[in-house]
Amino acid sequence: MTISKKSIQNINLEKKTVLLRVDYNLPFDPISGEVLDLTRIISTIPTIKFLLKNNCKVIICSHFGRPKGEYHKELSLDPIRQILSGILEKEVGFITYPIDSSIFNRISEMSQNNILMLENLRFHKEEEENSTEFSRLLSSLCDVYVNDAFGASHRSHASISGIPQFVPSVAGLLLEKEIKELSSITDNPKTPFTAILGGAKVSDKIKVIENILPKSDNILLGGGMAATFLLSQNVEVGKSIVEPDLIDLCSQMIYKDKIDNSNHLCFPQDVIVGKDFNEHTQYRTCSIKDICTDEMILDIGPKTISHYESIIENSSTILWNGPMGIYEWESFSNGTKQIAKSVARSSAKSIIGGGSTVDASIHFQVQDNINHISTGGGASLEFLEGKQLPGIAVLEDI
Ligand code: 3PG
Repeated sequence: MTISKKSIQNINLEKKTVLLRVDYNLPFDPISGEVLDLTRIISTIPTIKFLLKNNCKVIICSHFGRPKGEYHKELSLDPIRQILSGILEKEVGFITYPIDSSIFNRISEMSQNNILMLENLRFHKEEEENSTEFSRLLSSLCDVYVNDAFGASHRSHASISGIPQFVPSVAGLLLEKEIKELSSITDNPKTPFTAILGGAKVSDKIKVIENILPKSDNILLGGGMAATFLLSQNVEVGKSIVEPDLIDLCSQMIYKDKIDNSNHLCFPQDVIVGKDFNEHTQYRTCSIKDICTDEMILDIGPKTISHYESIIENSSTILWNGPMGIYEWESFSNGTKQIAKSVARSSAKSIIGGGSTVDASIHFQVQDNINHISTGGGASLEFLEGKQLPGIAVLEDI
């Protein structure tokens, strides 16, 4: 799927009023309200600077959390506006909820090269309802709409897929980069291409596996989801959490992989098992053949790590999405840690995506040695599944 969409680099923006949709849905501590990671803000700075350089009036909008169409003080974008203002060393004005006709005066009084930010769009129920009227209202604020919200581009919401019906609409620099990097995996990855897929649920990754299996040389499986694949091969996985509905599909996929690709799917051969899903549970390392009925898989084992490391070392392209174990707990962190280090050491082009994988890369301090860290969680998975994202599909073609 090659995607050729216009970006802000392909149109004349001089002195235009631009509505810039970003994804500032940042992780935050629900108790203190403290924002935990600024990557999604920092990634949009090149686009904002580009628009300012073109003397645009910049109106930034985003969602934050899931307020379900109601005002919630703790999900206000005002603190995020202040962070942005600090990063840019420039004042960023604020439009409080609800948006009303006074906004038109605020925009006409604004001088070029200035920034306004709208309050959380999801306080308006019309945003998630994808209301045409709400899209029309938002589009009437600007000459040009710019989507730099890759992380939300899988949502058919008013500010994502609705606005482009009414005004010229192009990609921002972040969205353009995400499309380029992720397409290099889905279209024509340099081989040997290795995908490392983990995380808790097979259901989150099964379509990604289906889409990339024919293009990949190796798919290294780990995390809780490996248990369903192992069970489909009649391996005893004890109390590990499995998805019974997907056992048949996993088994068919393994069978097809044997026939078509001569075993590109790799599974853990040894694992760390614990008695309970608990940080301090009793644990041991064992072969997958020796898991007891009262144990559960909580990480991959040392033999599996060495096997996966040798494959990673000989790869030219690496995609990593999903941890290998419960990396937040010291006793079950080694698999994810060693895989993270191995990806970072490798000379291959490396791309990682998914909230917990990005978090793990920061936790193990390898993020600076990864070629591309996607800002999308669900969006990057849907992209890798080969789906057309609604927020990208509606932008102008080159
Ligand atoms: C994300 O964090 O994945 C995006 O901002 C989308 O958020 P949502 O899943 O609440 O739509």
